[in-house]
Amino acid sequence: MCGIVAYIGNKQAQTLLLEGLKRLEYRGYDSAGMATIEDGHVRVVRAVGRVSNLEDKLEDLGGLRGNLGMAHTRWATHGGVTEPNAHPHRDDKSGVCIIHNGIIENYAAIKTYLAEKGHKFTSDTDTEVLAMLIGELYEGDLEAAVQAALREVTGAYAIVVMCEKEPETLVCARKGSPLMVGVGNGEYIVASDGSAIVSHTTQAFHLDDYNVVKITRSGFHTSTIHNVPVNPKVVQLELELQEIELGGFSHFMQKEIFEQPKALRNCFRGRCDIDEGRVVLGGVSGFTKELIKARRVVLTAQGTALHAAMIGEYLIEDLAKIPAVAEYASEFRYRNPIIEDNTVVVAVSQSGETADTLAALREAKDRGALALGVVNVVGSSIARETDAGVYLRVGPEIGVASTKAFVGQVAVLTLVTLFLARRRYMSGDMCAQMMKSLQGVPEKIERILEQDSKIRQVTEKYIERENWLFLGRGYNYPTALEGALKLKEISYIHAEGMPAAEMKHGPIALINEGMPAVFIANRGRQYEKVISNIQEVRSRGGHVIVVATEGDENIKRVAEDVLYVPDIEEPLSPMLTVIPLQLMAYHAAVLRGHDVDKPRNLAKSVTVE
Ligand code: M6R
Repeated sequence: MCGIVAYIGNKQAQTLLLEGLKRLEYRGYDSAGMATIEDGHVRVVRAVGRVSNLEDKLEDLGGLRGNLGMAHTRWATHGGVTEPNAHPHRDDKSGVCIIHNGIIENYAAIKTYLAEKGHKFTSDTDTEVLAMLIGELYEGDLEAAVQAALREVTGAYAIVVMCEKEPETLVCARKGSPLMVGVGNGEYIVASDGSAIVSHTTQAFHLDDYNVVKITRSGFHTSTIHNVPVNPKVVQLELELQEIELGGFSHFMQKEIFEQPKALRNCFRGRCDIDEGRVVLGGVSGFTKELIKARRVVLTAQGTALHAAMIGEYLIEDLAKIPAVAEYASEFRYRNPIIEDNTVVVAVSQSGETADTLAALREAKDRGALALGVVNVVGSSIARETDAGVYLRVGPEIGVASTKAFVGQVAVLTLVTLFLARRRYMSGDMCAQMMKSLQGVPEKIERILEQDSKIRQVTEKYIERENWLFLGRGYNYPTALEGALKLKEISYIHAEGMPAAEMKHGPIALINEGMPAVFIANRGRQYEKVISNIQEVRSRGGHVIVVATEGDENIKRVAEDVLYVPDIEEPLSPMLTVIPLQLMAYHAAVLRGHDVDKPRNLAKSVTVE
């Protein structure tokens, strides 16, 4: 999604803003822009495409000077990918300049009102409308004008505003889209996430919804849009610079795939009490009684997080014996869901900012559900709005294609399941055994990662094929969906994931000579049935690639290629079987020459509907 960075201090803003934009590139964008106040005047430079295009343009124009400025990466929502639609937007009449993440839903009505007052628009964006509204309401106090304008708008926003008439002030506000303020020594860096801040300061505060902050070099003042003062808490950013740098890898996705063993060890640290046969989860322990009494668990998420949630559904029903269902947040929020007594809703999200997941969570809470979060980004909106939760602790995920967060989400959902199961039906011995196996997952992933070059070779064999199938059953049906999603989002190859049994009900018609079909056929309750499904594909000329359990030599009789994973209890197997699929997707994208970390049209975190 769009990225925001702004600066006020004593340094030249341009250098710092460019560095910030580069750190935010991973969020996904299609144009970029920057503005500073130079000798009392707002100067704006914008460019379509990469931040490097903006950088070139700045150089051609001799650069922007000034100690106060703002910069933005835009992911188009209102209006095409053009320079006039890129941010910042300026209201020439008032000298107001703005960058904005989110969507102003009632912008059309405001635009009509402003047009009647003589405003001329140069873009198709809702953001320009907001700039002009603030300009229209400006009466010598930028903070008051921003508050007044925001009282008129509906929708989501994180904004930074400056004005030629107050060249020593930044005003920022948020509703629905994240925004934080880094507090340095005589300087402030405002950004949509900590990655643009952490190289300058580790002290920061998050803005809450409907909050406005006015920043000058001498300090800041925070209030609501109704001008009620609020006191944000400055906290230590839990982000290390090395975590957001490539460190020898070619891409963040590759780095994050290889980081998974370390990420999981961090996730498990202090949470598995093997001696007592108990899972220790500080973030939910205050709600233990309510959780034990749960009669239904609804897991809600989007994309990869939904695939993890689906595995959570299987885990919770199978091991904790509580009816569970995983559902797209975008569907759940609008379908008037029935929330019975003792329903627990679990929002699963890497970013903690996905608009649909947040809205589904609010809907469920309003209807009386206990809300848990399974979130990676500390202090994110979902983390703050849930009653309780468990952080993934897998470190920042920069690659747009989610990998370590998926494995972290499945790991945390397993811990939550064992937490519940042990307090309901599971014996201490059984729980201890599962925890031991869980703690063995990182080492097993390391063994799979050693096969990286073989996985690349297998991928290369099929790299020209435009249609792939991913098939699995039981716990590995969601893994098949995840394998297909990974392949399509970064290599742009059409891939479909489905339960292996579903193939006969239609998709089998797609199978033609040489079509790659990736089966997950690890040892488990439905192994024999998956083998039958494999035969069905083979007999129609499809090329079968199988993810199988080490030692399964038989499988070679039905598969062209076999990628082995170590044996493990079936409920824990998706954390292993997904690894070859992640690597296949990664290599396919590299072999096809795509920008793995910045796939076309995609944003890291989808903060609009
Ligand atoms: O931040 P979230 O986990 O809530 O994001 C949900 C999806 O947008 C995300 O998983 C998306 O599907 C990824 N691009 C998948 O790789």
